[in-house]
Amino acid sequence: MPLLQVEDLRVHFRTKDGLVRAVNGVSYELEEGDILGIVGESGCGKSVSALALLRLIPEPPGEIAGGHAYFEGQDLLALKRKELYGIRGRKIAMIFQDPMTSLNPVMPIGEQVAEAIWVNSSVSRREARRRAIEVLAQVGVPAPAERYKDYPHQFSGGMRQRVMIAMAISCQPRLLIADEPTTALDVTIQAQIVELVKRLQRELGMAVIWITHDLGLVARVARRICVMYAGRIVEIGPIKEVFSRPQHPYTLGLLASVPRGRTGRRQPLRHIEGAPPDMISLPPGCAFQPRCQFCAEECLQEEPSLVALGDGHLAACHRLGRLPVEALAPKVAS
Ligand SMILES: Nc1ncnc2c1ncn2[C@@H]1O[C@H](COP(=O)(O)OP(=O)(O)O)[C@@H](O)[C@H]1O
Ligand SMILES: [Mg+2]
Repeated sequence: MPLLQVEDLRVHFRTKDGLVRAVNGVSYELEEGDILGIVGESGCGKSVSALALLRLIPEPPGEIAGGHAYFEGQDLLALKRKELYGIRGRKIAMIFQDPMTSLNPVMPIGEQVAEAIWVNSSVSRREARRRAIEVLAQVGVPAPAERYKDYPHQFSGGMRQRVMIAMAISCQPRLLIADEPTTALDVTIQAQIVELVKRLQRELGMAVIWITHDLGLVARVARRICVMYAGRIVEIGPIKEVFSRPQHPYTLGLLASVPRGRTGRRQPLRHIEGAPPDMISLPPGCAFQPRCQFCAEECLQEEPSLVALGDGHLAACHRLGRLPVEALAPKVAS
C-alpha cells in the first residue's frame, strides 16, 4: 500500500464572481520515502491540492467537493477535526514559502521549536528543550544553544527557513509537504535548503511532496514529477522519463521555457503563449486546448483522462502518440 493515495480530489471556492474550480479531480500515489515534485504555472492548484490534504483550506469560501486521500490507510478527508491533530505536525508536516508567517515574531526561536516538540509528543519541557537544540543543529543552525533565545528577526531568511524545517521534522513525520520553500531565497541559499531537505529525507526516510513553479529545481530534488494545469494533473511519472520523453504539450512547453530543459544542454528560452484559463469558466474539452498548437476537434469536446504509458508514466492528452516528432517542440513565442 502506498503511503499516500489521493483519489479524484476536488476543491472549490465560492466567490462573488462564481465557483472557482481550483482542483478538478487530482489522483496520485506516493510511496513511503519517495519524493514527488509538483510543478505548474502560478494558480494551477498546487498549493490548494496540498493544503486540502491537511484540511487547511479556509472553509468557507473553500470546500472539499469530493475525493479521498488515504494516508496509512485512513482517509484524511473523512477524519474528524480532532483526529487530524494526531496527524498534522506529527505524521505530516508542512513548510511554506515565507517562514515569517509561521514563526511567532515575539517568541525566541528555540522556544518555538521546543513548543512544537512538547505539543506533539509526550516529553517533559526539559527534554523538549534538549531535543530542540539537537534538531536545530541537525538542520545546520550554527551554535544552536547560544542562538536558542534569539528572535526570528535576528535570523536571516535562509536561517529562518532552517528553523521552520527544524520544527517540521522535529516529530519525525512520514511525509513532509514543502510548498515553494525556497522561492523567496537567493540561489545560493536555495541550493543549501534543497541539499538540507534531501539529506533529512534520507536520514529520516520520510516522503516529500515538493511544490514549485521551477522545473530546474524539481529536477534536482524529486524522483517523480507531477505536472498540473488548471487544477488537473496533465502528466506524471519518473523524473528522468518525463524530462527525456515528455508526452503532454504543456510539459513540452514548460521544458522549452527553462535554460536546460529536456536534454540538459543550454537552449534558447521560449515561453508558452497565452495564459492559464480562468478557473471560474474553464474552456470546453481540454483545459490546455486554447494554448495548444496540436489542438484537434476532439480536444474541444471532451476532457482527456490520464493514460498509462508504462513505468508509472501517465499523460492526459487526446493526441498522445500522434504528435508529429519534429513538433515535440511546443508552440512558442520568440
Ligand atoms: N481563498 C481563496 N478564495 C478564492 N480562490 C482561491 C482561494 N485560494 C486559492 N484560490 C484559487 O484557487 C486556484 C489555485 O490556487 P493555488 O493552489 O494557490 O495555485 P498555485 O498552483 O499557484 O499554488 C487559483 O485560481 C486561486 O485563485
Ligand atoms: Mg502556491
